[in-house]
Amino acid sequence: AAVVEHTFKVGGTKITQLCMNSVIYTANQQLPGPTIEVTEGDTLVVHAVNDSPYPLSLHWHGVYQLRTGWNDGANKITQCPIQPSGNFTYRFNITGQEGTLWWHAHSSLLRATIYGALIIKPRNGPSGYPFPEPYEEIPILLGEWWNRNVDDVENDGYLTGLGPQISDALTINGVPGDQNRCKGSAMYEVEVEYGKTYLLRIINAAVNVELFFKVAGHTFTVVAADASYTKPYATDVIVIAPGQTVDALMNTTASPGRYYMAAHVFDSKTVAVPFDQSTATGIVKYKGVPDYAPAAMPSLPSHDDVVTAGRFYWSLTGLARPSDPGVPTTVDHNMVVTFGLDQAPCAPNQTKCSGFALVAAMNRNSFQFPEKVSLLEALYKGVPSVYSEDFPDLPPPVQGFRKATAVKKVKYNDVVEVVLQSEQYSSALGTENHPIHLHGFDFYLLAQGLGRFNPSKKSKYNLVDPQVRNTVAVPAGGWAVIRFMANNPGMWFMHCHLDAHLPLGLAMVFESRTLSDAHITWSKASSPLFTGPHLVKPKVQ
Ligand code: C2O
Repeated sequence: AAVVEHTFKVGGTKITQLCMNSVIYTANQQLPGPTIEVTEGDTLVVHAVNDSPYPLSLHWHGVYQLRTGWNDGANKITQCPIQPSGNFTYRFNITGQEGTLWWHAHSSLLRATIYGALIIKPRNGPSGYPFPEPYEEIPILLGEWWNRNVDDVENDGYLTGLGPQISDALTINGVPGDQNRCKGSAMYEVEVEYGKTYLLRIINAAVNVELFFKVAGHTFTVVAADASYTKPYATDVIVIAPGQTVDALMNTTASPGRYYMAAHVFDSKTVAVPFDQSTATGIVKYKGVPDYAPAAMPSLPSHDDVVTAGRFYWSLTGLARPSDPGVPTTVDHNMVVTFGLDQAPCAPNQTKCSGFALVAAMNRNSFQFPEKVSLLEALYKGVPSVYSEDFPDLPPPVQGFRKATAVKKVKYNDVVEVVLQSEQYSSALGTENHPIHLHGFDFYLLAQGLGRFNPSKKSKYNLVDPQVRNTVAVPAGGWAVIRFMANNPGMWFMHCHLDAHLPLGLAMVFESRTLSDAHITWSKASSPLFTGPHLVKPKVQ
């Protein structure tokens, strides 16, 4: 196994996009940021240098961080942010997982422009794929673009109490393509050869929107999602929520020509909030075809096509690998977690707020980030009163919400099952899609549905070949059931991957720790485990 080393300098970058000049913050002056490629078993080292004026952390979305939780990069959860002019080195092994993941800033809206692909190749090369070796691999990063500084967008969202304004465009590999009001916008283009199989590594790095993705004249065979292999699934449309990845094979057997690839918003929210109506486009061009050849446009599902989205999300099944232990059949810890948006009084410093401010919660707990110390650091050092271990197992029978840094303590190696339920918390607001992402673990996705979960749905559980994910798109007013084993000590964030909902509080944390019985020493007495703003590795016995 190799050590793969990168230096990411985060700083200002001048860019012209949508006919406007702006300065954005990027890693190494690139949008999307650099692609990281490792082989399963490698050690990844990333030196993060913060030349931006904003506190920063970088998260390796979907990487287990087995016993390296202090490298997870979740701002205020596993580390304090890297201050302007500061730097931090992330160092961890990537073991036991392969496929497409990604990395992104995990502090404020910076992830809109600070993100990139993290591709994990099988140990024995492409012959390790459980599908025919593709001719070439094509990363497709779907994103979202604002014409304004995204930190201002976020601050404004706070001041109005209504969250960030909608974005100005969707992007494919950093650029919006030619279907928007700015004539001559840059467009991503990839040249293909006739009669080959390409592996598309599709990542939804958009900030606040689930997406439909199609390529005109072509169909896909999905072979993986969230860096877990799936049984081959044939489809002409990919549906993908923020945080998720989909690996899909595409055969180039259409008549040689130019074909649009296109992405636009899927949004089933029952409350009429405007969203970005634009379509991002790119081009698949067959070799030898002239650039001026007209391109065919795919017909995308309508924005609220719940049926198409549900068919894709719910049809995938997992392809077990020899290392996969299978779904644990006994559950040690059952939870039901509801979540939604509610109305709160405007705070005195929300100077542009009128009437009410939005707030979000899980089981009526609106998550508050700690002020001075990260949760993991507080756990290691035994710092009192940073968080409370009283996140409820069941939704409390009350209206409203409480603001709290509430964590759920689960026993090391316990099997945890969570019913995730999108709920209407306020009669004045509807329900929305919420892609729920769990740090530190993959989970088995046992079942999903519209409406309310009830115990009779247990008959729908797939305990044979469920898909394995790190992010599940819970439909508006619908549910999903996940099961995972808490075999990774640390403080693990679970939150809505719509960035708009994170500062509103749609989050909770799993505290998974071992005590005397276990592999890791968490002893408060054996400090100093803590050096400077970050943690050092605990002792592994
Ligand atoms: Cu991809 Cu906590 O995030």
